[in-house]
Amino acid sequence: MSAADTSDLIFRQDYFSDPAAWEALVSLLDDTFGIDIDPLRKLGGADPTSMPFGWFNEEGILVANLSAFAMPFVFNGRLINAAALQSGAVRPPWRGRGLYRDVTCKALAWCEAQSFEAIILYTDKPGLYEPYGFRSLPLHKYAGPAPAPASPTASRALQPHNASDLALLQDLLRNRTPVSETLAVASSPAMFLINTQFDRDIRLNYLEESKAAIAWKVPASGHFILLDVVAPEIPPLAAILAGLGIQATAVDTLFRPDKLGWSGAAVAYEGGTRLMLRGVEAVGLDHPAMLSPMADF
Ligand SMILES: CC(C)(COP(=O)(O)OP(=O)(O)OC[C@H]1O[C@@H](n2cnc3c(N)ncnc32)[C@H](O)[C@@H]1OP(=O)(O)O)[C@@H](O)C(=O)NCCC(=O)NCCS
Repeated sequence: MSAADTSDLIFRQDYFSDPAAWEALVSLLDDTFGIDIDPLRKLGGADPTSMPFGWFNEEGILVANLSAFAMPFVFNGRLINAAALQSGAVRPPWRGRGLYRDVTCKALAWCEAQSFEAIILYTDKPGLYEPYGFRSLPLHKYAGPAPAPASPTASRALQPHNASDLALLQDLLRNRTPVSETLAVASSPAMFLINTQFDRDIRLNYLEESKAAIAWKVPASGHFILLDVVAPEIPPLAAILAGLGIQATAVDTLFRPDKLGWSGAAVAYEGGTRLMLRGVEAVGLDHPAMLSPMADF
């Protein structure tokens, strides 16, 4: 394996406190993936555990990057002290000179030094990560008829850019229980908050009685999609529908609904990207499951 060609480039790690370097990352991700992560600054900031690894040129352009952050998650009933990798990109003129391999090796070495027991990532290029021992996990959502309606309760819409709603969401995210025992994040507030901005169809409501924030969609009349529940205790699906005032016939849950008092049938989920894991002994789930898209990173 030849060394990366890093001539005329400057390596920087842990650079988020420098506003110009943050802007350079925002620009790299916008140019590469068409996503804008800048709203995070107004939503509590980047995950405080973030550790970015980047090569900058002399003009301050970020030409190659990969970031790691702590993402503890539940896997088959066990809480795993895991790291996640995200924001992996190399600008086209600098591709093919080993810069991505270089930041990948640096990020993996950092994860090992921090004693994370597993590493998780999403990618549409699994071949990039298989040489490092990552394996893909098949993902499944659950689909089925809606439960019998429960008595109506109150809920209100939440706007993450409203200061008091943001404070409420942050409090709920800090004190949440994993939405499933099979596969779910234990924390990761920054990812939840930025994901509310990426898809305009996602709606957020607060159920007063259950003290739960619900991320949901209704793509067609009668079809309810539950993306995530952020609460100290997960309310039953019937209570969620009653709180939202939704009369659904069909429900999809984008996580295993083992705490919802409802069961659907597992259906393979093709989200366009693969979830890959490294470090978990047997990369296999006890039950079909997926990570909520609100944890997507
Ligand atoms: C994927 C990407 C980061 C690779 O950048 P790069 O500068 O060409 O990477 P490197 O030169 O460091 O090559 C690293 C290794 O990945 C391999 N590789 C490059 N592109 C690949 C691809 N699309 N699929 C699989 N492997 C790939 C290279 O052959 C090389 O293998 P080696 O270590 O055995 O020599 C870059 O093309 C990119 O930014 N693409 C768009 C964004 C993206 O897809 N990011 C990754 C998302 S998780």
